[in-house]
Amino acid sequence: MWLSNSSIGRKVVMSVTGIALILFLTFHLSMNLVAIFSESAYNMICEFLGANWYAVVGTICLAALAVIHIIYAFWLTIQNRAARGSDRYAVTARPEGVEWASKNMLVLGIIIALGLILHLFNFWYNMMFQELVGNDTTLAANGAYWIKETFHNPVYVILYVIWLVALWFHLTHGFWSAIQTFGWNNKIWMKRWEVISKVYTTILIAGFLAVIFAFVACR
Ligand code: HEM
Repeated sequence: MWLSNSSIGRKVVMSVTGIALILFLTFHLSMNLVAIFSESAYNMICEFLGANWYAVVGTICLAALAVIHIIYAFWLTIQNRAARGSDRYAVTARPEGVEWASKNMLVLGIIIALGLILHLFNFWYNMMFQELVGNDTTLAANGAYWIKETFHNPVYVILYVIWLVALWFHLTHGFWSAIQTFGWNNKIWMKRWEVISKVYTTILIAGFLAVIFAFVACR
């Protein structure tokens, strides 16, 4: 099939899944920002999502998107390296205009995946998973409690900041690169999309950092 047989098809899959994951992050941040203003409103949202069938279907779709994105990332990287052969080591200077992030997308992606495992352990495991397996659910919908519990620990604060910085680099390049793949770029719009992807990503990451530091400060 075109989406898996050709290099451009594989880039389209990376781009579509990447943009879908950015949309999830936008939704996730909107939900988390509520916690800064009202813990009880945030807990109501967590309870509404809980382990209901629609939340579980959402989680499965999200996991599928992430798995496809990661598999295709490795696939494209291996293919690119094979195409370049030993030339990969011939030039050490960065070509002009090629950002640092674009050359390190796989490494950044691996840091993000490791951070995500930690994050799911901190939150999803204590919340949705406990409800799914029928354990004591008194704290399962108390998202605000888990945010306080996590960011009370300075080690987690540092790890989350590193994770979010890696995410900033990954998304600024990924967003722009996806637009290129879709062909929505001409001379004027190429620069504009670069600015839009930087501004949008900065808003997302600043929002997540605001949630973390609002709760660090409240202890
Ligand atoms: C301040 C930062 C963040 C906070 C406070 C936060 C909070 C949470 C909470 C409370 C949950 C559990 C929801 C539930 O199971 O009902 C959750 C799940 C999740 N978070 Fe975050 N999150 C943050 C940042 C992020 C970031 C940056 C990412 C992605 C890179 C992310 C990805 C996820 C995913 C994939 C889930 C599982 C979603 C699901 O079960 O459908 N989170 N987060």
